[in-house]
Amino acid sequence: MTSKAAPRATSADEPEPAPKPEIALEDLPGIGSATAEKLRDAGYTDLMELAVASPGDVAEAAEIGVAIAQKIISEARRRADVGGFESGAAVLERRRRLGRVTSNSKALDELLGGGVETQAITEFSGEFGTGKTQIAHQIAVAVQLPAAQGGLEGEAVYIDTESTFRPERIVDMAKGMGLDPTATLERIHVARAFNSNHQMLLVQKAQELAREKPIRLLVVDSLTAHFRSEYVGRAELAPRQQLLNKHLHELLRFSDAYNAAIVVTNQVSSRPDILFGDPTRPIGGNIVAHAATYRIYLRKSKPPRRIARLIDSPNLPEGEAVFSLTTEGVRD
Ligand code: GTP
Ligand code: MG
Repeated sequence: MTSKAAPRATSADEPEPAPKPEIALEDLPGIGSATAEKLRDAGYTDLMELAVASPGDVAEAAEIGVAIAQKIISEARRRADVGGFESGAAVLERRRRLGRVTSNSKALDELLGGGVETQAITEFSGEFGTGKTQIAHQIAVAVQLPAAQGGLEGEAVYIDTESTFRPERIVDMAKGMGLDPTATLERIHVARAFNSNHQMLLVQKAQELAREKPIRLLVVDSLTAHFRSEYVGRAELAPRQQLLNKHLHELLRFSDAYNAAIVVTNQVSSRPDILFGDPTRPIGGNIVAHAATYRIYLRKSKPPRRIARLIDSPNLPEGEAVFSLTTEGVRD
């Protein structure tokens, strides 16, 4: 891929041109409609997914032989725009377009290196009531602000898996930021995800929306809840992690294509093996650790205070920030 071949969104008013029409799985030799259906059910929805899949996984998903799976993958690689190398200049140019969205707390913004970044996934994890959902609401409002006030003049997609999206909170926060509440609600596109498959499908729907509207933020609250409740027990761990990985990569691709910020929330699970220190850790393990660029761990302090800690960031110093949860939203 050369820099010319990789146009990127430059501003809120100039959304990414629609990607090339996808080639249907059925167009590949050896894939009938039944096989295509099985593949889609397993999460292989386009050529790219197949091109980077392993023959064993595809064989299992489609209930076909490994040799046939290998042929399908080769053909998908040949036809898919797998991309490849781009120049350092092109990478620099893309990094220049990085945008940041304020959390409305100076301390929290500083911890994040200036706010929630586009072209990246930011994870907020913590126990119940630590403010993950409140922060997600707050950023969905803040992304609409003009750049001078810490926004991107963009719109938000909000994938709600736990039915905790509250328009009333948006109204409070919009007022707190000097925005018109009704217009603010119009620019947040909310979808309730009923299960993990639906949750993943909604990312594709978000892509369709992002071709029409300047979507600069995609929230998934919560990233892991459905996966956790649907895939229970040791035997289910590998398939769960595989799907979660795929989901995260689709989110990353979205963030790249539309120069959007991705905010995901994550609960924590307890670690019985830890005797000293915090006995909890975010769900999803290495998969989430790998895909999320910024990971913020929240804990409660004296109400209404919360403490945010940056965990394993590649380029920012570790540190902590204190903020408050108020009726108007996140505050210092
Ligand atoms: P789970 O989703 O259950 O894991 O929790 P969470 O981390 O998403 O917590 P959430 O963001 O829902 O935070 C709940 C907390 O936000 C409450 O305990 C309150 O402290 C605060 N909060 C929520 N709504 C309001 C409000 O209208 N006014 C004020 N002052 N605080 C609120
Ligand atoms: Mg929540």
